[in-house]
Amino acid sequence: MKIAISSDHGGNNLRKEIVHLLNDMGMDYKDYGPHTDDSVDYPDYATPVADAVIKGEADRGILICGTGIGMSIAANKVKGIRCALVHDVFSAKATRGHNDSNVLAMGERVVGPGLAREIARTWLTEEFEGGRHDKRIQKITNLEK
Ligand code: RB5
Repeated sequence: MKIAISSDHGGNNLRKEIVHLLNDMGMDYKDYGPHTDDSVDYPDYATPVADAVIKGEADRGILICGTGIGMSIAANKVKGIRCALVHDVFSAKATRGHNDSNVLAMGERVVGPGLAREIARTWLTEEFEGGRHDKRIQKITNLEK
């Protein structure tokens, strides 16, 4: 599985922590930065990750900002993206199983690095359950038309 990951300045530290996790898990990834501590606009960093997922250049994306909120709002504007803002392990499992989320957003100012790693690990390893959830995903897709 290939992962696309980015943050804004508010998520730089946690992005680096999650990149360590991806290395620990032996995952293939592309880190879209930012590679400085300068203040940046989160939509500019959400877009390349969302686009990579939609184009099939990445299987899933991870976005981090101060709260995760701006990143998730921006990513969900891209057709085909189902970005879940998650700050607990239960929701990480549920959003993969039920929503087939293809992008995970987290906030560096909300969760500590240890919990964020567990959330990301859970989200990366849980499978979509399909079944009754298929038609619900289809109804979300229909909203994009
Ligand atoms: C940046 O200060 C902050 O607004 C951003 O990281 C994010 O939390 C926005 O939703």
